[in-house]
Amino acid sequence: MKNIPIDSSIVNEAIGKLKIKDFGRATIREVVAIANEVEKKSGVEFIRMEMGVPGLPPAKVGVNAEIKALQNGIASIYPVIDGLPELKYEASRFVKAFIDLDISPECCVPVTGSMQGTYTSFLVAGQCNPEKDTILFIDPGFPVQKQQILVMGYKYESFDIYNYRGDKLKTILESYLKKGNVAAVIYSNPNNPAWFCLKEEELKIIGDLATRYDTIILEDLAYFAMDFRKDLGIPFQPPFQSSIGKYTDNYLLLISGSKVFSYAGQRIGVVAISDKLYHRKYEGLTARYGSGTFGSVFIHRALYALSSGTSHSAQYALAAMFKTASDGTFRFIDDVIEYGKRARRLKEIFLKYGFEIVYDKDMDDPIADGFYFTIRYPGMTGAELMQALIPYGVSAISLLTTGSNQEGLRACVSFIKDHQYELLENRLNKFREQYLIS
Ligand SMILES: Cc1ncc(COP(=O)(O)O)c(C=O)c1O
Repeated sequence: MKNIPIDSSIVNEAIGKLKIKDFGRATIREVVAIANEVEKKSGVEFIRMEMGVPGLPPAKVGVNAEIKALQNGIASIYPVIDGLPELKYEASRFVKAFIDLDISPECCVPVTGSMQGTYTSFLVAGQCNPEKDTILFIDPGFPVQKQQILVMGYKYESFDIYNYRGDKLKTILESYLKKGNVAAVIYSNPNNPAWFCLKEEELKIIGDLATRYDTIILEDLAYFAMDFRKDLGIPFQPPFQSSIGKYTDNYLLLISGSKVFSYAGQRIGVVAISDKLYHRKYEGLTARYGSGTFGSVFIHRALYALSSGTSHSAQYALAAMFKTASDGTFRFIDDVIEYGKRARRLKEIFLKYGFEIVYDKDMDDPIADGFYFTIRYPGMTGAELMQALIPYGVSAISLLTTGSNQEGLRACVSFIKDHQYELLENRLNKFREQYLIS
């Protein structure tokens, strides 16, 4: 075993310490803890691919605007709960510039990150109609969102889209919606963890069904415009970020500052609610709150109760980032395209050593290169692969935790450093030697 960089006793001890019953279901934080421990004990540098944290500096235009706002004394004043007017205006303009959708400033609501956006959206969507008490996840997805459902005590259902791309999506989605209990459907596009991007015809299927079955679509755009196969970064010019907003009025968009502007630390994002949904009255909301539309309950009841608004200075930052992006003076895509470059190199290395990409296609097109990709190794379950890679100093999370039925891992490129491509080649070369003969 001289070719394995890390002694198995160190790995076993680290895993044992956390007392995880089923290693395949280890959470991201647990994998982080194991990698930290093994790295410390062995002195071997890890190639970290488990966490989806932006690995780039924050957008300067945001930082400068925030500093200026703080110097002007903004910290002492409660922000207006509906959001800073300047941010609401710029969010609406940004949505027009890069998605080509018309959503009024009134309906663009700042939140403390998309996490708060999804929590509030689930909460309110689940109160609209007494029969509709379930959230449907088009999986694989972001595990913390199911945690939010658990915290709320709501119900959820899910399906893995792997075998249901294209027309097949209609059959499976309709089989859930026709039961009449689905309050909202959520998916991310580009997808975390698999980085597939739904095609226009698939979005049309989702939109048509949302209208027919009167369900709300939560479109999670945490990786906004990061389908690098196209240049989605030119304001007011096609191609635009694809969106459900073209196909139904029952939707809201979750736009996060975290990845696209590398602004995760300040917890800032915007929920852009379609004008029709924002102004719609629901029987369930009237019964619970006396009166109110979806938008006013979202803001003045739910957000008020959750955090009473969003950090004031961060709103100035996001307003400035949106404004300069829409003005065409800040090419945000040029910063984050680095993730695509990393993914291309990493995928090449994995493929060279016998790995396969799990979610490899958008129907007929090869998948884009971006923040995440998925891998499997022939003959191994996801859990086995995750554990087998740790002695080689490579950490990633199992797809099991994302609602996927496929055996494999999610690899995130954000922490990869320049010298680690060579390191990964060496490690995977050794891994291949070991697992080809055994
Ligand atoms: C799909 C998806 N949605 C939401 C988020 C969270 O976004 P925020 O940092 O704005 O809360 C993430 C972060 O990793 C994500 O991957």
